[in-house]
Amino acid sequence: MYPLRRNRRLRSSESIRSLVRETIISPNDFLVPLFVVEGKSTKEEIPSMPGYFRFSLDLLSAEVKQLWSLGLKSVLLFVKVPDELKDNSGKEALNADGLMQRAIKTIKDACPEMLVMTDVALDPYSSYGHDGIVENGQIINDETIDVLAEMSVSHAKAGADFVAPSDMMDGRILAIREALEDEGFVNTGIMSYSAKYASAFYGPFRDALDSAPGFGDKKTYQMDPANRDEAIRETEMDIDEGADIVMVKPGLCYLDIVREIRNSVEVPVAVYQVSGEYAMLKAAAEKGWLDHDAVMMEQIIAIKRAGAHIIASYFAKDVVKLIS
Ligand code: PBG
Repeated sequence: MYPLRRNRRLRSSESIRSLVRETIISPNDFLVPLFVVEGKSTKEEIPSMPGYFRFSLDLLSAEVKQLWSLGLKSVLLFVKVPDELKDNSGKEALNADGLMQRAIKTIKDACPEMLVMTDVALDPYSSYGHDGIVENGQIINDETIDVLAEMSVSHAKAGADFVAPSDMMDGRILAIREALEDEGFVNTGIMSYSAKYASAFYGPFRDALDSAPGFGDKKTYQMDPANRDEAIRETEMDIDEGADIVMVKPGLCYLDIVREIRNSVEVPVAVYQVSGEYAMLKAAAEKGWLDHDAVMMEQIIAIKRAGAHIIASYFAKDVVKLIS
C-alpha cells in the first residue's frame, strides 16, 4: 500500500516501461488485405481510403514482394469484378481463370512462401451486391452455401492456403470443409468470419469493390451490433464445423467481443480492423486533428491487448515501417 507501493516506479523511464510492457506489436501480427483489379499497370487509390490502392496483377507482384521484405507474410485477397461479369448466382466466382484465381497464382509465383487467404462471399460477384443468392428479395441460405463451397475449392485449386468465408450464411463452414475434403484439399485452412456484425464501418470497402447492396441491407445475415452472447454461439458453431481460425469484425467497437471469444475458445482469434476504422483516422489526421502514427499504434495495441492473435489491417504496412 502507498507509500511503500508506488506504481509509478514501473513507469519512470522508457527502459523500465519496455521491460514490463505486456503487448508487443510485430510484423507477425498482421494479415494484409489486398484489393485486385483487372487491367495493366493500374494502381488506383480508393477515394475513401487515402493511401490504399487497388492493384492490377502486374503490379501486385511487386507489392507482395515489398510486403514480404517488410516481414509481412500473409495476405487476404479481394477482387473488384467488372459489372458485366456480375449475376445473381456468382457464376464468375467459380471461373478457374477468374481474377481471384489468377491473383492467387500471381502471388504464389512472385513470392511462394507468402500465405494467401481469399475472401469467400458472393457480394463482389453479385449483381445485387449481396453475399448470397437472392430470391424474392430474400438471401437464400442453402443454395448459397453450395456455391461458397465450390468457390472455396476453386481457390484451393488455384493455390490458396486458407479460404476466408465472410458471408455469414448458416452452415457454410461445414459445407466448405466437406467440399475441400472431398477434393483432397485436406491442408487448406478455413478462417471464418464468425462474429461479423452488420456494421456501417464497411462503407469505404464497398466503394473499393463497388459492392454495396443494391437493395436493403445485410441485417438478415450479419449480426446485430447489440448482441454479445450470439457472437459466442456463432463462433463455437464455426469451430465445430471445422474453422481453424475465427474472426471478430469490425475491430475497435467490438473489443469486448474479442476478449469474450478469446477467453472461451481455443483456436486463434483474428480481428478485422475494417475500412471505416481506417478512413476515420486518415480523415482526422488529414485535418490535423489527430496524430496519425500515435493513434494508429494505440488502436493496434488495443486490438492485440483485447485478445487478437491475428490483425487484419489496412495499417499493416504503416505500422511495420514505423516500428522497424
Ligand atoms: C464481403 C466483405 C465485406 C468486408 C469484408 N468482406 C463487406 C461487407 O460485408 O459488406 C468489409 C471489410 C472492410 O470494411 O474493411 N463479404
